[in-house]
Amino acid sequence: MYVEKLVCSRCGRSYFLDEKPLLCINRDLGRLDIHYNYEEVAKSLSREELKHRSFYMWRYFELLPVPSRDYVVTLGEGGTPLLKASRLGEKLGLKNLYLKDETRNPTGSFKDRAMSVSISMAKFFGFRRAVIASSGNAAASLAAYGAKAGVEVYALVPHFAASGKVSQLLMYGAKVIKIRWLEAEDPTVKMMRILYEKYGFYPSPSFGVFNPYQVEGPKTISMEIVEQLSWSIPDQVFVPTGAASLLTGIYKGFIDFNELGFIDGYPKLIAVQPEGNHPLVRAWRMRADPHNIKPWEKPPETIATGLEDTYPWDGDMGLKALYETSGYGVVVSDGEIINAMKLLASLEGVFAEPSGAAGLAGLIKATEEKLVDKDEVIVVLVTGHGLKDIDTALKITGEPPTVNPSEEELTNTIRIHYGGL
Ligand SMILES: Cc1ncc(COP(=O)(O)O)c(C=O)c1O
Ligand SMILES: [Zn+2]
Repeated sequence: MYVEKLVCSRCGRSYFLDEKPLLCINRDLGRLDIHYNYEEVAKSLSREELKHRSFYMWRYFELLPVPSRDYVVTLGEGGTPLLKASRLGEKLGLKNLYLKDETRNPTGSFKDRAMSVSISMAKFFGFRRAVIASSGNAAASLAAYGAKAGVEVYALVPHFAASGKVSQLLMYGAKVIKIRWLEAEDPTVKMMRILYEKYGFYPSPSFGVFNPYQVEGPKTISMEIVEQLSWSIPDQVFVPTGAASLLTGIYKGFIDFNELGFIDGYPKLIAVQPEGNHPLVRAWRMRADPHNIKPWEKPPETIATGLEDTYPWDGDMGLKALYETSGYGVVVSDGEIINAMKLLASLEGVFAEPSGAAGLAGLIKATEEKLVDKDEVIVVLVTGHGLKDIDTALKITGEPPTVNPSEEELTNTIRIHYGGL
């Protein structure tokens, strides 16, 4: 057994995997952090051994909580490219800029790593019905893995969920319910809690406090980055942040590799949040106690719909990640996110949804504020595909001109619209 125990992040109570725990029985909304027996892990996982394994998430099987390979439900997630961004780097005056392109995952976002683990655990636990509260990406992902495993998925999404994500959900066969967001509190989470507390659904949101297993998936992003940089540690990693589960996972990945002696040290981890909802960065600015983060007081206002968690469920670990790696928080406006989307697509050929491009917006801001040195190795996580939210993309770009098939109209339009032939 690679998992030694699970320990509640709030009350410290421990559990064994055999007990199949999900939430702390003290009902304190602590996350059951998974502790690995690194001695056991090291017996089969080494840097040498990794040379012989396929480049996808499950190459790190020993560091994922699924007790046997027989339970693994995979669509080939992970193994995403770390792209050297030379044109963008030149524009920003950075020599070593990399994009970790998570849009390449099976359903177009990094959430596939989380949901592959979650559905694998649902199989181990024997659940047939799962429920998720999500802005859309985690739900789309759960729906795909649920389809693959034969687990029924109920998806509770906000009424303004992006149409690309809703269409994915419906096609994968999820039972989708849009919930109106009327107050500051996330109504999808409120409704999800009813379904698992009263009706016995498997809770599978991408928040560690409701499902501690899935948060292990995204930590493989850090592991891949280290391997892709030939076992070196970047200087800074920019993480778009909502519930801070991704940030938590990223931190955990570096912890695991340090514990195994594969690396020695940490990059600075940077949380990027939108102006219209930034409870975690606000807490970081106030040097708040990680267990005392105040929720955002209003409904979120941002085009980055994946970053709209008014309460960062995994903010305790997220905040610790910033404190302990000498990282920091950055707030970006919607305009800055739009600018980052355009730069990513037009200079590097990577089309991201607003939440997916927020990390780059954060880097641009940090560069302006002299928080980044030109020689540093910088990794920006690009977390969700642009095709998920084409309505927003088309609003930004506008529609292209339409002409009749005549040479005159064609050349005139090129002159007027695109500045000449
Ligand atoms: C594209 C995208 N990026 C980043 C995030 C943020 O992840 P987290 O909520 O774990 O902080 C999300 C969450 O939905 C997302 O969909
Ligand atoms: Zn507890």
